[in-house]
Amino acid sequence: MATTNLIDLVVETTKNAYVPYSHFPVGAVLVAKNGQVFTGVNIENASFGLTNCAERTAIFKAVSEGILDFEELIIYGETQKPISPCGACRQVMAEFFDKDLPVTLVAKDKSTVVMTVGELLPYTFTDLT
Ligand code: THU
Repeated sequence: MATTNLIDLVVETTKNAYVPYSHFPVGAVLVAKNGQVFTGVNIENASFGLTNCAERTAIFKAVSEGILDFEELIIYGETQKPISPCGACRQVMAEFFDKDLPVTLVAKDKSTVVMTVGELLPYTFTDLT
């Protein structure tokens, strides 16, 4: 599960968030089974709906490099309680992660909650049959 190093990395990563509209920076660190680490931040746009969340940035970076096997995800926000990922990101997690993959949610004070992908999005839509 998320080590101190990974939590420090997600906090550091969050400095790159592009958030001129919400001023709400979010960071994500995605660890692949092969040991590769992908960072992500939220990237906003003047056309608000085009905003990409931090988690999806990290996932899309990994997938676009051909990496599909993952170990864990860490998400950080400057929130009082550990950040709660949005519904769209939960659906994207369900697409690429096993149900039991641990997601560590980190608050501003670095307190954490660990939930699995299955807990974050139960009774998931996963295929078209
Ligand atoms: N945001 C994320 O990056 N991840 C989440 O799970 C929640 C929301 C971003 C989107 C937007 O840039 C800002 O936080 C406020 O919603």
